[in-house]
Amino acid sequence: MTAISTAIPRAFIWRRLHSLAGLWFVLFLIEHLLTNSQAALWIGDNGKGFVNTVTAIHNLPYLEVIELSLLGVPILLHLVLGIKYLLTSKPNSGKSDGSKPYIPLPRNKAYTWQRITSWFLLFCLAWHVTKFRFIDYPEKIPIGKNTYYAVELSLDDGLYTVADRLDVMLYDRAALSREKGTWSQNAKPAQVQAAEKMRKEEVDSFTGPEAQEYNSQKANLFIAAQTYQEKAAYTAALDKIHLSSGHVLALAKDFGTASVLTVRNTFKNPIYVGFYTLFVLAACFHACNGFWTFLLTWGWILKMSAQRAWTTVAAVMMIALIFLGLAAVWGTYWINLRY
Ligand code: HEM
Repeated sequence: MTAISTAIPRAFIWRRLHSLAGLWFVLFLIEHLLTNSQAALWIGDNGKGFVNTVTAIHNLPYLEVIELSLLGVPILLHLVLGIKYLLTSKPNSGKSDGSKPYIPLPRNKAYTWQRITSWFLLFCLAWHVTKFRFIDYPEKIPIGKNTYYAVELSLDDGLYTVADRLDVMLYDRAALSREKGTWSQNAKPAQVQAAEKMRKEEVDSFTGPEAQEYNSQKANLFIAAQTYQEKAAYTAALDKIHLSSGHVLALAKDFGTASVLTVRNTFKNPIYVGFYTLFVLAACFHACNGFWTFLLTWGWILKMSAQRAWTTVAAVMMIALIFLGLAAVWGTYWINLRY
């Protein structure tokens, strides 16, 4: 008699992990689209909601650890296992010459579209993360005791008025090279050299007013030296920036404001508007159909009546998410922040 194994098969566990990571991805998408929609809604408030939320997220302690553990790992798990499942999937809702089954029922079509959108999303996500997390990511610029955030933008008719409303400084190429030129890093002012010399000196022979005078002189020199170092760090950060022609550098006081400007800059290009429209449609379909199949995977909607009811919930959720996503794509530049 052969023993019946009660161990849970590995493939089953991986499927469930993929499913849970998918649900996590859905929750992230909802948060992401709620935040992004605020770059356009409410019209006339200069994307205040977006700016505040993005700044708050960016100011979280250990942001890189959070990004990696709460986003990177679960998303990568969903993608890597997803590719494995894609390569072994068998869509059957497409026309067939009779060699394969052809079942054009709504659930079979949804299965096929879940896989088509997977391939498309794979490409879109790679593009999206590269663009916004790396290429357009605001650069930190230290100015005195404050940190500013720099982004490069292409110039348009409304940029100067928008920048003025958002309290952002704009530098074109000439202004930037003037700014860089105001401070020469090599020529250390006389006070800095004196401060360096004084730091090494051990003077304890002064007493009374003489000592007081000496100490206040020392403090002034050290402050001058620190101001010089801050300015040198600012100039060194600016030196790394090379503007293309027709572009300007925007210096914002917080990360969220710099980000809303990169979003505005992206969506003034109709090609990006078209690309992101398809991206939003694909992501919202995949997420909401995925949410429905998630409920089925975990055995929560086995009755036909429950499946029908949750189809309606998933459809309403999809329409709401598409609205939020497209509001950001079409509204940020063309409606809310054009001038
Ligand atoms: C917007 C991004 C995405 C979200 C919100 C998301 C979410 C989900 C959810 C919730 C499921 C259902 C899991 C279940 O039925 O238990 C799912 C299924 C699936 N996802 Fe994603 N996903 C996303 C992107 C991707 C990408 C880029 C791929 C490409 C590898 C992918 C591949 C798959 C596959 C193949 C399935 C079907 C698994 C199966 O039922 O066998 N997903 N997704």
